[in-house]
Amino acid sequence: MAEAILQFEDVSLRFEDNLVLDRVNLTVNRGDTFILLGAAGSGKTVLLKLAMSLIQPSSGRIRLLGHDITDLKESELFEIRSEVGILFQEGGLFDSLTIEENVGYPLRNQKRLRAPEEEILTRVTESLEFVELGHTLDKFPSELSGGMRRRVGIARANVTNPKLSLYDSPTAGLDPITAHTIMSLIVKQRDLRKTTTVLATHRYQDGAMAANYQWDEATHDVVRAVPHGQYASLNTSFVVMKEGKIAFLGEQQQLEASRDPYVSQFVLHQPPPRIGPGGDRGHLPA
Ligand SMILES: Nc1ncnc2c1ncn2[C@@H]1O[C@H](COP(=O)(O)OP(=O)(O)OP(=O)(O)O)[C@@H](O)[C@H]1O
Ligand SMILES: [Mg+2]
Repeated sequence: MAEAILQFEDVSLRFEDNLVLDRVNLTVNRGDTFILLGAAGSGKTVLLKLAMSLIQPSSGRIRLLGHDITDLKESELFEIRSEVGILFQEGGLFDSLTIEENVGYPLRNQKRLRAPEEEILTRVTESLEFVELGHTLDKFPSELSGGMRRRVGIARANVTNPKLSLYDSPTAGLDPITAHTIMSLIVKQRDLRKTTTVLATHRYQDGAMAANYQWDEATHDVVRAVPHGQYASLNTSFVVMKEGKIAFLGEQQQLEASRDPYVSQFVLHQPPPRIGPGGDRGHLPA
């Protein structure tokens, strides 16, 4: 039977008289990828924050990794949270800390994870090498490009080898090539470390990549799992949020078939397959 990693049961969230989530129900099972789409302000970020209990719902229950976290105290959340990695929408790197210190932060500051210094350095280096930034240990965030900082954020989210990774708009504001690199790294993390993944994005291509591309160790790149024109799915669900409600939840093929005028705005239909060298490999159109 599928193991539920994250469950929302009738979750509502209200800020004063603003109902920002309205009875959301959602189950993310082990090995799933969930892609959250939806207009600005539709509730993607609050959903991710609720998943880690960084904010509390006004009503409903949230279960994370088998625990009901709805009413847990901060002290009781530490251990459960240490199994979850998050990349914040704003990046969340500390400007005054080096890249090594930023990525090592969860290992040095989460009680359960606290490890000997030499082990921390090994894990930080590994995590940075995973995102191909092994050479940046001693630099500061301001010395890196926006895309590199995003990769550092991915390294920090995953340095604890979490069971669940949450990524809030990891490709926002990046050029198409860098956005592709970021998504490749997220797919790499998912496939090599078997990380359950929830990702908020404005880019349909990010979801299409998660649903159809797999990490290939031989070529050290993502490759399509099925030919163009077919849907691989790869346990990927798409969620379209509309004003705090789930307007759509299903696979890519169902999403593309949706006739709902709001939902279909989030679909970018793919052009016909390109013919030429490289076959089915190659980058998704930007
Ligand atoms: N701390 C807060 N206090 C009051 N209102 C908040 C707070 N955090 C979020 N909101 C409101 O909740 C709603 C959902 O915000 P959220 O940040 O989840 O949107 P989003 O879907 O992530 O948007 P974007 O695509 O711009 O990132 C918005 O109306 C926002 O103003
Ligand atoms: Mg957001």
